[in-house]
Amino acid sequence: MSSDEQKRLVFECLPTQIKDKRGQLIRVQIYEASDFEGLRQMYDRFEPKGLECGLPPYDDQVRLRWLHHLVSNLFNVLAIYGDRVIGHSAMALSCSPLCPEYLIFIEKGFRNRGIGTALSAVMKEVAKKFGCDKVVLTVRTANTRAIKVFKRMGFSFCGKIEPCRDMEMTLKSARTGRRIK
Ligand SMILES: CC(C)(COP(=O)(O)OP(=O)(O)OC[C@H]1O[C@@H](n2cnc3c(N)ncnc32)[C@H](O)[C@@H]1OP(=O)(O)O)[C@@H](O)C(=O)NCCC(=O)NCCS
Repeated sequence: MSSDEQKRLVFECLPTQIKDKRGQLIRVQIYEASDFEGLRQMYDRFEPKGLECGLPPYDDQVRLRWLHHLVSNLFNVLAIYGDRVIGHSAMALSCSPLCPEYLIFIEKGFRNRGIGTALSAVMKEVAKKFGCDKVVLTVRTANTRAIKVFKRMGFSFCGKIEPCRDMEMTLKSARTGRRIK
């Protein structure tokens, strides 16, 4: 299947917009190369940098390389307010077995408005559509807000009890669902 066909199938399960808790409309869209500058600017504005397992990287050059890596290798979805990128989530959907690591960042002024939950729900549907067995992530135990969102999605803790803990979400429907990769 061509990458255009894959994208079209994934688009079918993406809502094109989210209404946040303030009633503001946030557009949701698959990352395109023309979005790079907007994404870079979001991470330039992002605060605090470096807190979540060193991400987003504090150093400008390292951050730029990290971003190039993400957009070249991962499946990326953006949350956009007006013409401003305010949220980004990503998963690697070309690895095998399909147990991608999940990443999500919402810009400071837009947190606690339901956007992280809504975007994560979209990514869960994407993972199901791709036939992922599970999705994994690492989170600081002190990041109780992120943990609340991840548990709500169906993630649970696994592995060693450490300051940064692994979480995983098993996608039971993956085996029976339509696999598009
Ligand atoms: C974690 C993050 C993605 C969540 O996205 P968000 O849009 O802020 O999340 P939502 O608004 O959908 O949900 C947050 C929930 O946590 C609750 N919350 C807020 N602060 C909290 C805290 N300190 N402890 C526990 N829960 C908290 C909110 O009330 C909300 O719950 P509710 O919907 O029941 O009211 C976002 O805050 C973020 O990008 N943070 C910085 C980067 C980060 O931590 N990324 C994850 C790295 S693993």
